[in-house]
Amino acid sequence: MAVDGWGCETPGDHEADCRDNRVDVFRSQTSVEPGRWMCFLERFRSESTVGIVPIVERHGEETMLRVYSGQSKGATSFFRNRPLLRLLLTQLAGYPRHRIKVLFHASSIGAEPYSFAAYCQMYGLTASREIEIFATDIDGGFLDFAREARYPAAVLSTMNGSERDQFENDGASVRPVEALRKMVTLLPPMSFVDATFAEPFDVVCLTNAMTYVSAAEQTRTLALVASYDRGYLVASAFHPDTIEADLRRGGYVPVEDEIEAIHDAWNGRRRDEPVTEDSPQYSWVLPRFSRIDGYAFRYGAVFRKATLPSPWPNT
Ligand SMILES: C[S@@+](CC[C@H](N)C(=O)[O-])C[C@H]1O[C@@H](n2cnc3c(N)ncnc32)[C@H](O)[C@@H]1O
Repeated sequence: MAVDGWGCETPGDHEADCRDNRVDVFRSQTSVEPGRWMCFLERFRSESTVGIVPIVERHGEETMLRVYSGQSKGATSFFRNRPLLRLLLTQLAGYPRHRIKVLFHASSIGAEPYSFAAYCQMYGLTASREIEIFATDIDGGFLDFAREARYPAAVLSTMNGSERDQFENDGASVRPVEALRKMVTLLPPMSFVDATFAEPFDVVCLTNAMTYVSAAEQTRTLALVASYDRGYLVASAFHPDTIEADLRRGGYVPVEDEIEAIHDAWNGRRRDEPVTEDSPQYSWVLPRFSRIDGYAFRYGAVFRKATLPSPWPNT
């Protein structure tokens, strides 16, 4: 069976091939698509001094990095939702401030802030604006990994050419190029539930993480976020029954452009079968997109303060 250097798409007796390629392979049932055997898992070894070992999983067009540290678990990937990144860049191209400050909460090992930095370069936003990116997480080990920014080379395999150009190879691992690393400031660890900031941000991102806190903690989180965010909020995997009230209280309205494409691009979270309210997956799983009442809040991921003029003059 053909092995592309990191594994293959179908389960099979390919362990020997992978061992020949010095890839440490074991098979496991994927948690992303329960009931389906993963094509392969690979443990990444680098010269990293950080004791966190990502497990690399390939899911179609996405290379997922699964990490564990104490009680924390973080699954993340580069360019996790490309339609969302494109929409955000389009919106920011018309943003009225020259200096744009972006905060990533729950950023795990940094794939998300570095992906955003890469898109700012690829879309030329850095040529016309001063972009400052800050990232944090509840887990200090994940942030140390992000600071070192050495990732398994397998992450390149699901990137297009322009995305790949934003990385440099240092042999055992790949790193976002220095220009991107300089754009991202890793903050001390903090919980988004009680984080506060003296200076406002223009974009706050809080994706795939509010599912780990209660609906009441989500309400508290979003009230705080609204106090230090003056522009956009990017949020996903939230408690769907209370999100509209939480966001309206914070003065947010949904940005509906590309809403269905963004919804469908959350790989691994989409299910056609309904998930009941008592399921632990309720705030994680996304049903098929439909224009039910409140869909723009329930299924949305990009929100903006209603006080901002829209559309932005594109200058
Ligand atoms: C599934 S990962 C998502 C990572 C990234 N946002 C993404 O979407 O690719 C969840 C992350 O949330 C972090 N996390 C969980 N609870 C948190 C909290 N209360 N405050 C800050 N980070 C938290 C975890 O440490 C983990 O890195």
